[in-house]
Amino acid sequence: MDQNVKQQIERRRTFAIISHPDAGKTTLTEKLLLYGGAIRSAGSVKGKQSDRHAVSDWMELERQRGISVTSSVLQFEYEGYCINILDTPGHQDFSEDTYRTLMAADSAIMVIDAAKGIEPQTRKLFRVCARRGIPIFTFINKLDHAARDPFDLLDELETEFGISTYPMNWPVGSGATFRGVYDRETRELLTYDTYHGGAQRLESRRCPIADEAALDALIGAEARQALQEQTELLDGAGAEFDLEQVRLGRLSPVFFGSALHNFGVEQFLESFLKLTTPPLPRRTDSGAMVNPLDEGFSAFVFKIQANMNRAHRDRISFLRVCSGHFLRGREYLHVQSGRTMRLPQPQQMMAQEREILDEAFAGDIIGVFDPGVFAIGDTICEVGQPLRFSGIPTFAPEHFAVIEQIDSMKRKQFAKGMTEIAQEGAIQIFFYPNSGMEQVIVGVVGVLQYDVLKFRMKSEYGVEFRQRDLPHELIRRVQNPGFNASDFNLPSDVLWVRDVRGGDLLIFNGQWTVRWAEEKNEGLQLHEFHEDIE
Ligand code: G4P
Repeated sequence: MDQNVKQQIERRRTFAIISHPDAGKTTLTEKLLLYGGAIRSAGSVKGKQSDRHAVSDWMELERQRGISVTSSVLQFEYEGYCINILDTPGHQDFSEDTYRTLMAADSAIMVIDAAKGIEPQTRKLFRVCARRGIPIFTFINKLDHAARDPFDLLDELETEFGISTYPMNWPVGSGATFRGVYDRETRELLTYDTYHGGAQRLESRRCPIADEAALDALIGAEARQALQEQTELLDGAGAEFDLEQVRLGRLSPVFFGSALHNFGVEQFLESFLKLTTPPLPRRTDSGAMVNPLDEGFSAFVFKIQANMNRAHRDRISFLRVCSGHFLRGREYLHVQSGRTMRLPQPQQMMAQEREILDEAFAGDIIGVFDPGVFAIGDTICEVGQPLRFSGIPTFAPEHFAVIEQIDSMKRKQFAKGMTEIAQEGAIQIFFYPNSGMEQVIVGVVGVLQYDVLKFRMKSEYGVEFRQRDLPHELIRRVQNPGFNASDFNLPSDVLWVRDVRGGDLLIFNGQWTVRWAEEKNEGLQLHEFHEDIE
């Protein structure tokens, strides 16, 4: 492989930032961009203040609700590294999008509110990372506010997640008594000052822990003593630092800080970049591994987003480059359709702008105009070297509704809209056997997706629909060949449906009915809905 390409790949770091809403993910992302020089002052990324999201009409919905629906990708340079941050939506109704985004990341930063500890969304996201063995770095945020005991927080992470933790630094106090963090590597205290206003990059004062007199002057003898005791405890009883375990996702390096006040952020970024991995290999569905340094280009689609720009009515597919070197203008193979094509207008998101790019490397995320054939999980690779990536999970919908078109003259638009939105992975569509497209059963993970569907169908496809919510909440795949529901003894409220590929499914209104159906029908083979994560 070309030395330059190899170097480019090895300096890439691609990661996602995850958190429960409000823990400070947006603030931390913004500060990382600030340190990377991608933005000049804080406050320019956040959706609420900027009109970044006004570029698309369906995102109007997101603005009205004040939530972040979509995730974006940001690239910037920092001290020789090329960083790709995958931002993820905070709202739980869009968690599927987050799960898929995690498939494109090589590691994850989990932001936790120091006063709250683990919250429901953190828990779910952690599980997805753990199942894929994604290394997790923890940033415990908001130390400038009263926080829970740091030992308690670590204990919670270890017992809930079954991983080891290694505090890279240690806080001295919190809220009004917050004095700074002790850096365990340099054995220095970084002092927290009220001048850490947050808008600019600021240096911290450093004081060696061995210099007791200087420490006493800075934080007082009592706090100094407590710190010494705690660090002895950490050195004596805590886990050893083991990079191998970090890379396997079994040991999480933990950092304490305050993103809002820029405190501990730079140390975090530097340490994180040293510890996290360059692009990792990906598995194909035949079980083979594709190495980032393999000669041929390969990538998979992990996200599709329509109409990001009102003026262009476009649909952009986001690809994670898994191996090799991508060149604009070159022909590649879309494996699922068997078509060779030039990827139209490959682009990169730079903070709030898009830029057409001529090349990209393994580890990068590129957006391409979608010619209408891409679906989530598809592979694009060198012509003549077909391979297929595995591992984009489909999550089981938990809410179901019958959606019917109102105006039968608009049958085509209805079918097109529903199919395209389903291809993006925002909704999943099912059909009654032997019925057409005019009545569709739509399954979603979060109910807010119905609002997005309604809004988008109207504004993008000019179609209105009637929605009848169903009480059902569980879906199972049927494995019996040539399945016919009438051959089985099923309760009348069980729905028999088919997916777009013709697979048979049953939808139940609760666990109890699933069990009943299994008990009464010996030959019935029901399987969990989701295609498992590798
Ligand atoms: P999210 O993306 O995880 O949802 O969280 P976000 O960064 O939007 O932060 C949620 C709230 O927490 C924001 O306040 C933000 O300013 C605040 N915050 C983030 N980091 C820190 C921190 O280190 N210390 C303190 N004290 N607060 C922090 P908000 O009032 O909801 O929004 P805003 O009016 O400040 O924009």
